Amino acid sequence: MAKRSPQFVCQACGNVTPRWAGRCEACGTWNSIVEEDAPAPVTAAGKTIGRGRVLELVPLSGEDEDAPRTPTGIAELDRVTGGGFVRGSAVLIGGDPGIGKSTLLIQAAARLADRGGKVVYISGEEAIGQVRLRASRVGLAQAKVGLGAETRIEDILATLQDSPPDLVVIDSIQTMWTDAADPSPGTVTQIRAVAQALIRFAKKSGTTVVLVGHVTKEGTIAGPRVVEHMVDAVLYFEGDSAHRFRILRSVKNRFGPTDEIGVFEMTGGGLEEVGNPSQLFLGERDAATPGAAVFAGMEGSRPLLVEIQALVAPSPLGTPRRAVVGWDSSRLSMVLAVLDAHCGLKLGGHDIYLNIAGGLRIAEPAADLAAAAALVSSLAQAPLPQGRVFFGEISLSGGVRPVPHAPARLREALKLGFEAAVAPKGNSEDGEKGDLPIESVETLAELVARIAAGSEALRQ
Ligand code: TYD
Ligand code: MG
Repeated sequence: MAKRSPQFVCQACGNVTPRWAGRCEACGTWNSIVEEDAPAPVTAAGKTIGRGRVLELVPLSGEDEDAPRTPTGIAELDRVTGGGFVRGSAVLIGGDPGIGKSTLLIQAAARLADRGGKVVYISGEEAIGQVRLRASRVGLAQAKVGLGAETRIEDILATLQDSPPDLVVIDSIQTMWTDAADPSPGTVTQIRAVAQALIRFAKKSGTTVVLVGHVTKEGTIAGPRVVEHMVDAVLYFEGDSAHRFRILRSVKNRFGPTDEIGVFEMTGGGLEEVGNPSQLFLGERDAATPGAAVFAGMEGSRPLLVEIQALVAPSPLGTPRRAVVGWDSSRLSMVLAVLDAHCGLKLGGHDIYLNIAGGLRIAEPAADLAAAAALVSSLAQAPLPQGRVFFGEISLSGGVRPVPHAPARLREALKLGFEAAVAPKGNSEDGEKGDLPIESVETLAELVARIAAGSEALRQ
């Protein structure tokens, strides 16, 4: 056999180069390139590939049954997967260390076992005693989950092969290794080989395989980034340790929606589902402070009210500070530019902070109007009128554009005791459907003028 030549693989993105470099040219990460053995070539140079088998093609129009699913019974988790784990699929759950991935999965495993499912939990990070301790802390010491502490994938597969379970949790993919690849666990080659073996097992046996992956500070799954392309679904478990709320978000799902979220609360006794997240996110709010606006948002099919907080203050610095938590900073720059160009608000000399309460992250353009209202309210030191929610997208011309799902947003606001919504004129018909009155705005300048004229002015 020809000698294998070494190759250099970026541990962050999986890019392969023939030479070592301090910085990966593909993703720009420093010090991420590691030497690994190149996999054996599939065909030797110059050799033509062999004859294949003739495939039987089927018409596109054929009907298939829905993929069979295994619901866990944890509603927030089942919502994100699209109604339960699909049998024979592989799911990657990523998140920062300590966010609660192991807790969520031991709870899901126990719940499924209680419903009669056969479940195996393999921990590569913690000893049996530690896993048991956590299970008893969350009140699940009696659950009928098969537990193993192992990192060699050959042994794990040999254990599972004879009677494949409904669900296997591999915690975490970074700790697993196989004899078939370069010896150090956690390298891209190892992770890819391990994931391939597990995914092949899932497809063949019908077992759902859940892989846990740790995420780097930049928000990408370290190493397992390469796994994202191989698995059927990628879920992120996020939140920050300063808050109790945890959000499970699907970023890829071959069998379900990708914009649904599941909301949990980390308590002393494990993760609890949060059925009504709006109530939670608005929980400790002081409505009468300047700079706070309630945004009526949507997460997938579910409306969600959150508070957007802004602080605008004259800056002592030559280059004023801009800090955003939970929202897109380029979106903030755009709103500030529109406030400057079309509303005459000069914010170039002000420090500006924007925060989404509760540790939530918002990606919808519909949040523009609420963010602008919070900014203007803070600048004017005038609280926004009571009982109002805001939504609407701001265009570069200063107009306020209609957004989708207005009736659902309005209904949620009504349910939580709000009296009116400040929303785009283009959505006013939705208000007439009888849910909640809309105080329509056509341009951002109109909103600024109303806030400036005092809170009563918003009522006209
Ligand atoms: P864990 O599930 O180990 O996180 P991950 O697997 O993502 O690394 O969760 C660890 C954190 O959760 C730890 O800081 C303690 C906290 N925790 C609770 O607050 N309550 C609980 O019931 C449990 C089990 C953990
Ligand atoms: Mg863990």
